[in-house]
Amino acid sequence: MPGQPRHLLRDDDLSPAEQAEVLALAAAMKAAPFEHRPLAGPQTVAMVFDKPTLRTQTSFAAGVAELGGHPMLVDGALAGIGVREPVADVARILGRQASAIAWRTFRQADLEEMAEHAGVPVVNALTDDFHPCQLLADLMTVLEHKPQLAGLTVAFFGDGACNMGSSWLLAGATAGMHVRISAPEGFTPPEEVFVRAREIAAGTGGSATWVADPKEAAAGADVVVTDTWVSMGKEEEAAARTEVFSPYAVTQALFETAKPEAIAMHCLPAYRGKEIAAEVLDGIQSVVWDEAENRRHAQKAVLTWLLSQSAGER
Ligand code: NVA
Repeated sequence: MPGQPRHLLRDDDLSPAEQAEVLALAAAMKAAPFEHRPLAGPQTVAMVFDKPTLRTQTSFAAGVAELGGHPMLVDGALAGIGVREPVADVARILGRQASAIAWRTFRQADLEEMAEHAGVPVVNALTDDFHPCQLLADLMTVLEHKPQLAGLTVAFFGDGACNMGSSWLLAGATAGMHVRISAPEGFTPPEEVFVRAREIAAGTGGSATWVADPKEAAAGADVVVTDTWVSMGKEEEAAARTEVFSPYAVTQALFETAKPEAIAMHCLPAYRGKEIAAEVLDGIQSVVWDEAENRRHAQKAVLTWLLSQSAGER
């Protein structure tokens, strides 16, 4: 019988202490990229994609190679996950070939099912609901510019109902940050996520709030974040979304409402002139390229950590 490996399915799968441990490991791995080889063998990590990818595929592939392992790319459409065979069967198959699985897909419930049956650690490489790998990279990036995460104010603008809004709430609260989601009514994170974030924040000293007015949300923020208004799978709503989210665009004027030393973040891909002005994205206070690089270091750390936590369980 397979044991119960640890997974990263959503941001609150890591406790505050565990999140700090993974972030410290990520920084150590960035400082010495070729010195940690827990996948020597090489062990294989399956990377499964049902949605488009650039950063995730390349950062996982490069990261797994640096860990001494073999990145195995699986095309979700070709495999026909949930179509040719059930998710649970795919999980059992992949778990017999790979030491860990990273999956980008639509439904969080499918990812949970994969984790239940794989017998190896499963990492959320983005679902409709959460993007925890991006958040580890983002928190790592913030820490490269600020002395500590706890107590910082982060303001997220735009589609608060997308995966990044929810992940900022959970991961930010876990880190003890004050997370403001600035989004129009109807596009706020699910109530369940707010409730959970507030529960976590009660123990870390952080907070989780919806601030409808973007200027109010930006005021005094240490970190200004946005994301595309049209997440993968929402392409048909593009025109309507542009209209409803326009007041939440991160313009230079809005960015200047934040602290003078604030940093601008975006998980990319970015649409200059829509959710973020080119002068902010390409400006000196933007850390977006560091975020993209840090995906590799953060994912190496979380894979290493999950495998070490799961060792002996199988
Ligand atoms: N919210 C975006 C994130 C892209 C990395 C999406 O799901 O498309």
